[in-house]
Amino acid sequence: MSRFHSAVDIIRTKRDGGRLSDDQIDWVIDAYTRGEVAPEQMSALAMAIFLRGMDAGEISRWTAAMIASGEKLTLDVDRPTVDKHSTGGVGDKITLILAPLVAACGAAVPQLSGRGLGHTGGTLDKLEAIPGWSGDVPDLAAQLREVGAVVAAASDRLAPADRKLYALRDVTATVESIPLIASSIMSKKIASGPESLVLDVKVGSGAFMKTTEQARELARTMLAIGQAHGVATTAVLTDMSTPLGRTAGNAVEVAEAVEVLQGGGPQDVVELTLVLAREMLRLAGLDDVDPAAVLASGQAYEVWARMIRAQGGDPEAPLPRPKHVEVVTAEADGVLAEVDALAVGVAAWRLGAGRAAPGDAVQSAAGVKLLAVRGETVSAGQPIAELHTDTPELVPAAREAFLDGIRIAAEADVERPPLVLDVLR
Ligand code: URA
Repeated sequence: MSRFHSAVDIIRTKRDGGRLSDDQIDWVIDAYTRGEVAPEQMSALAMAIFLRGMDAGEISRWTAAMIASGEKLTLDVDRPTVDKHSTGGVGDKITLILAPLVAACGAAVPQLSGRGLGHTGGTLDKLEAIPGWSGDVPDLAAQLREVGAVVAAASDRLAPADRKLYALRDVTATVESIPLIASSIMSKKIASGPESLVLDVKVGSGAFMKTTEQARELARTMLAIGQAHGVATTAVLTDMSTPLGRTAGNAVEVAEAVEVLQGGGPQDVVELTLVLAREMLRLAGLDDVDPAAVLASGQAYEVWARMIRAQGGDPEAPLPRPKHVEVVTAEADGVLAEVDALAVGVAAWRLGAGRAAPGDAVQSAAGVKLLAVRGETVSAGQPIAELHTDTPELVPAAREAFLDGIRIAAEADVERPPLVLDVLR
């Protein structure tokens, strides 16, 4: 790597619509990670990238440089490793079911997950509702060999450049850039060492990407990065205009995931889990295994119980219950034409299920339980949701957010987009 770069020249190149060389990218990411490039310079570069974009070669190199800023895991296991990443949604408890299910089908599933910020929940926050469970796993490969699945907190040593850059983007209005989002997600996933990866790219009000076109472009960009780095990748575009299943929050989502693992649960959660499981098994070379049969057999629940115990949790222990439950009723007769994902996510967050700033505590028992979902007929006064919290003062603001996302209409008015919008391979 040349030592004679200047951050100002690199910013100017991108500001004027030029292409960054491999050497410039390697230098600027490394120098920023070490504190040699100042945050104000990286902010200016992020904004130049936001406005001017990067081509496929630049994006791939940018991702490689972020991976090289930290350690890359080697997962020494005797089965194919396959991971899943969701770009984030409301009620998205799929990882809780999918990891043990795909492990029960014969693959190893390393799920390095994060905490929630804002209206989308975090997988670690949900699992921490289980008494005793911890996301700190000292030896991922050992748990993969013994159990087949692990859901753990991503170490600070994976792609530290991304951690630093993401915090900067968050406060400089440069999050919503496809090259920056794609390289951010893929650097962390590739550094965690799986052989293959399935991306669940969410589309709709509760997601980062509000339109199918934007989501498709993000998916294509991530697929190209996966390909360039030797990680077989598939992207599934899925609807996030309404929450997945009937719960959004922490303990309520764990309970719903367990229902699915025990053969019940909402149909949309089961459908999406099976679509993603089939893609993961295809990439792992296990496409002769039928995940629906494995789910029905109870083997996925057995792996779940072993996975929870391996991480200090008690899968049989009662989950935390809220100190206060507020019931919301329908204001008119008709069909629930809209149960908006963003509104439900914001309501769960305001009840205490999510955090406003990194490091805030979350309430395990907080969340929203939908008693009726989009497309169902309701009558005036019928309970349609429960708002769960330990802090009743939080209810009015949560109730307002929730009701903003509810629309009751005549049957003819109801639109039901398909759950799976596209699959890109
Ligand atoms: N999630 C990430 O990890 N990075 C982004 O840039 C956006 C979402």
